[in-house]
Amino acid sequence: FGKNIFYYDEAGSSNDIAKKLAPTAEEGTIVVVEQQTGGRGRLGRQWASPKGGIWFSTILKPRIALSAASRLTLTFGLSVAKTMRQYGFDAKIKWPNDVLVNGKKVTGILTEVEAEIDTVEFVVIGIGINANMSLKDIPEDLRENSTTLRDEGGKSIDRVEFLQKLLFEMEQEYIRFSTRPFNEIMDEIIALSDTIGKEVTVNMPNRIVEGTVVGISKTGALLLKKADGEIEEIIAGRCMYAKK
Ligand code: BTN
Repeated sequence: FGKNIFYYDEAGSSNDIAKKLAPTAEEGTIVVVEQQTGGRGRLGRQWASPKGGIWFSTILKPRIALSAASRLTLTFGLSVAKTMRQYGFDAKIKWPNDVLVNGKKVTGILTEVEAEIDTVEFVVIGIGINANMSLKDIPEDLRENSTTLRDEGGKSIDRVEFLQKLLFEMEQEYIRFSTRPFNEIMDEIIALSDTIGKEVTVNMPNRIVEGTVVGISKTGALLLKKADGEIEEIIAGRCMYAKK
């Protein structure tokens, strides 16, 4: 990963650039943008991307079915959490696409897939890390329950070194993803999961469910125990923790 790097001082969204390059790009090509003017989050939301963060996208061409693409998001969430742990941060994974430090969001992942019927042509994994910046660099309405590595660690990190370590972790994890049963990766994700045991509300396109997270299935779906005791398996959705 990162053998081919496209770097921009300023651009709209690294995911959009990566999607344009993807048909002809080699697998593992990355697009890094110092400052995004149109950073995108999941579900059509904006993603604040001032200078000082790590905003990049990776182009992949996995031989998987469309339904397996969300597992890649979890896999790379694990890579981000493991890299942060090397720096001493207490990083955990919040299903399905966030990494938290001290219970607050430092990273979001936006996975976009181009598929022909059920065959994946390419996947763009966009990773946004709030690194050398402070929460006040993020507009108030986009802060949610976020934080930054500098706010949590009290100092800046070497972003180039961090990205090198992260790309190494991602490559290792991707090789494992492609060659081993997914439950090996899943066991590590479960061990670093912040979501198990939490009371949550999950928003899906046409309904909302509430319950307690009792686990994550071997395929990466959320297992939610509802008030009536039934356990529902949720493959995709927006997960919010209940306010205490
Ligand atoms: C989310 O939590 O909603 C996902 C945020 C993903 C942000 C990253 S930053 C790099 C890449 N380019 C984008 O426009 N978005 C992703």
